[in-house]
Amino acid sequence: MKNLIIGNLKMNILTLVERERYIETFKKELKSKKLPDSKIILCPPAVHIENFFKNIKSDKVFFGAQNIFSEERGSYTGEISAPMIKNIGAKYVIVGHSERKRYFFEDNQIANAKIRLALKNGLIPVYCVGETKDERLLGNAAEVIMKQITEGLADISSAKIQTVVIVYEPVWAVGSDEVPTCNEILEAKILIKKLFSHAYSPAIAEKIKILYGGSVKNKTVKQVCLDAGMDGALIGRESLIPSEFLKIAEAISMNSEQEKINNK
Ligand code: PGA
Repeated sequence: MKNLIIGNLKMNILTLVERERYIETFKKELKSKKLPDSKIILCPPAVHIENFFKNIKSDKVFFGAQNIFSEERGSYTGEISAPMIKNIGAKYVIVGHSERKRYFFEDNQIANAKIRLALKNGLIPVYCVGETKDERLLGNAAEVIMKQITEGLADISSAKIQTVVIVYEPVWAVGSDEVPTCNEILEAKILIKKLFSHAYSPAIAEKIKILYGGSVKNKTVKQVCLDAGMDGALIGRESLIPSEFLKIAEAISMNSEQEKINNK
């Protein structure tokens, strides 16, 4: 499956009525969309995963959590463990999101512990990397991304690394209306591929999926995703509106379908 289109619903959908409305609208919109060669991954708040899993049945749609704790079991009041989300229908988990870094002070070592735990439990980690505005202005973007990749993915075998999904999410583009240029995204993508090639092998670097995240909208998807040849997108705000979210998903899917035809 070439494309992954991930919806990060964040801390939204507050009532059961809202949840039902979201699910019903999503299912209705899904019926009218062409999504060849693509997987849609919805990441609702953890309390809703089971209900989403039970009520949205489609071979195109999978589910993920927005976070797990870095330990598997024990006295960690309020935390959610990898097997818990796995057992209620999640296949994926987002790790290293910039909002976890900003509000919960998570660093690369914490991301590494979570990624390893996710892999141990058969979950696919969706690892977010990217620089802040200040880091970019100081010319440190490449160094920051390099550290996030090398520290966040330390001690992971070649066999396991191939399942990890990387998202390049410049922190300044998340939740804002600013988006990087296609060239800036390409630079980050090439850097990440080089790091994988060096740490593992060129074949693994080729295989690894790199998505783009940060203010993806139907009108920006060409610039931030299609032109840079990304393997999909991580979508925040627009994933709260199923019609917009699935429009973006369709644009990504149909673009790679067209590329396949052109390459024949
Ligand atoms: P946004 O969020 O699309 O609202 O910028 C992106 C994200 O959280 O990954």
